[in-house]
Amino acid sequence: METRPLGQTGLTVPAVGLGTWRTFDVRGAAAEASACTVVEQALAAGARFFDSSPMYGQAERVLGQCLGPRRAEALVATKVWASTLPEGRAQVQRALAFYGGRVDLYQIHNLLNWRAQLSLLEELRAAGQVRAIGATHYSPGAFGELAVVMRTGRVTAIQIPYNPREREVENVILPLAAELGLGVVVMRPFGEGDLFRRPPPAAALAPLAAFGVRTWAQALLKWVLSDPRCHVAIPATSRPERAAENAAAGQPPWFGADERAYVARLAG
Ligand SMILES: NC(=O)c1ccc[n+]([C@@H]2O[C@H](COP(=O)([O-])OP(=O)(O)OC[C@H]3O[C@@H](n4cnc5c(N)ncnc54)[C@H](OP(=O)(O)O)[C@@H]3O)[C@@H](O)[C@H]2O)c1
Repeated sequence: METRPLGQTGLTVPAVGLGTWRTFDVRGAAAEASACTVVEQALAAGARFFDSSPMYGQAERVLGQCLGPRRAEALVATKVWASTLPEGRAQVQRALAFYGGRVDLYQIHNLLNWRAQLSLLEELRAAGQVRAIGATHYSPGAFGELAVVMRTGRVTAIQIPYNPREREVENVILPLAAELGLGVVVMRPFGEGDLFRRPPPAAALAPLAAFGVRTWAQALLKWVLSDPRCHVAIPATSRPERAAENAAAGQPPWFGADERAYVARLAG
């Protein structure tokens, strides 16, 4: 797995990590054990960057439980998602308890009350409980405000959606991130799974074999990761074997412009 500096956060991240939205919002011994097998496979494959949020129900807790004594091997990115400061503080205290007293990247989820929550996260960073601070939004309608946050100089990373069918970040957000030296975490590399509804036939992937691509998922991840402005993609999966399949896309050789255009055409 290739590792990359996440902009100027001071973190070195694998090209492929793991998201936890929906897939880790589970309760009960069997479902939690299954989520832990996904974490084990991700760690074994080098995909040691895990993204969560208090918005994802049980996911933060389940991820913390799965990491357990292996917490030190992982980089944990979670989020504060609160409209008031007391609520934000309570979320942070819960997350610190789940992750051994430290969060590697703390992000402001959907920019909710970002001015107040930024101050809270800066306090925690000064206390050594948070290593880097980021901001996330999924909606192009909020990218104007995201750009304002980026320009404050108070975040060193962003998390945005990017895949061949969702390319709005190419207009302002990715150029600005590159200009400011921000780390870029890519959510929704598969469009929440929509890009698997009508996958291209296996034969269409043959021209990408020389890039180590065996599956459509790997083609989509390489499409994201071949943009040098993007540092880590965080696909979610509930299936252990897919964690390994996805992680395998985090290796060079990277696509050039022609291969990216080809994958975009296949994605329709
Ligand atoms: N969506 C958002 O608005 C949002 C917002 C903020 C943050 N995030 C973060 O970004 C992460 C990723 O985004 P996402 O979860 O929305 O969507 P995604 O990663 O684009 O897609 C996840 C879907 O792809 C399927 N999948 C994964 N690997 C596959 C493979 N190799 N072959 C076929 N299908 C595969 C999964 O199904 P199986 O479980 O069956 O494998 C799952 O349904 C989230 O988990 C979260 O941490 C997302």
